[in-house]
Amino acid sequence: MMKGLVLSGGKGTRLRPLTFTTAKQLIPVANKPILGYVLDHISRAGIKDMGVIIALETGEDIRSYVGDGSKWDVNITYILQEPLGLAHAVKTAQEFLGDDNFVMYLGDNLLSERLEKFIKKFNEEELDALLLLKEVENPKQFGVALLNGKGEILKLVEKPKTFISNLALVGVYIFSSRVHEAVERIEPSWRGELEITDTIQEMIHIGCRVKAEILSSWWLDTGKKDDILSANTLILDEYSKTEVKGIIDQKSKVSGRVKLEEDARITNSTIRGPCVIGKNCVIKNSFVGPYTSIGNNSRIINSAVEYCVILENAVVDSIDRLEESLIGRNAKVFKNQKHKTLKLHIGDYSEIEI
Ligand code: G1P
Repeated sequence: MMKGLVLSGGKGTRLRPLTFTTAKQLIPVANKPILGYVLDHISRAGIKDMGVIIALETGEDIRSYVGDGSKWDVNITYILQEPLGLAHAVKTAQEFLGDDNFVMYLGDNLLSERLEKFIKKFNEEELDALLLLKEVENPKQFGVALLNGKGEILKLVEKPKTFISNLALVGVYIFSSRVHEAVERIEPSWRGELEITDTIQEMIHIGCRVKAEILSSWWLDTGKKDDILSANTLILDEYSKTEVKGIIDQKSKVSGRVKLEEDARITNSTIRGPCVIGKNCVIKNSFVGPYTSIGNNSRIINSAVEYCVILENAVVDSIDRLEESLIGRNAKVFKNQKHKTLKLHIGDYSEIEI
């Protein structure tokens, strides 16, 4: 039986300030936490038993979102882990995993391709590890694999300082129980973590059958800064549908794929999809352009926003044009008509471009 292991711990330092108040896996993309898409993806492949790794700091938030897993028709076992690396997570989950094969999925990653074909290859070829790879422009930020002409893995390096390959290890892996043997044999890396990359290298060393597949379509890694906006674009492109539950007045124009949730009110405004507008939002005398997601209870007044991710309870008022922006929960952006000076009241690690 194939199990699932979803990693939802970690500190999310690269996504501050949003991660001061929420787990990185719960940052919404098109108004749904990225972790929700991950669980959809794994359960669609027929996996019923999932371990969810959580950290002390954010574990409660993850639990309250995922609950008992019934929303996805899966059984969930929560496993508390100190953030000491991905291989350490595997070690911590050993009791849950037993001798079963499993798909390990980082809770802030998302694949476009379905998992079934990879699981099939893993089973048919009786592999011990199947890695997924994707070409990236910034290999220093990832674990990378060097392949030979036949597609066999020669070497794996975590966060390479000098270039060896532009094929990054995607945060989705399939393992047999032999991974546990390798985890026992490795030492922490320079960053003090038990690395999954070193583990797989060790699997090759002890004679396990390890193969890699290069992905042909998109892969998101929302744990790395600046990717939330592009993740939002991809998800809106791929998944968004027109669904109007809110109220649109006679003076407003709505075109393209627009999801308007319950009790959202559009007054004297233009909305151009793809975009999603959450419950109870108020959009008044405004323009909401393509690739925008607005969380529940937010207000956009006398403004134009486009290509933005705006979370819950935010206010944007009298802003001529707001583009490519990520606005956190309960944040307010407004123009004071009397003063020409800029007055800021912003949290730690915020960024403002003027
Ligand atoms: C981790 C893995 C790395 C992989 C990456 C994918 O990196 O260690 O091999 O390429 O996830 O997102 P981390 O997020 O810990 O920096």
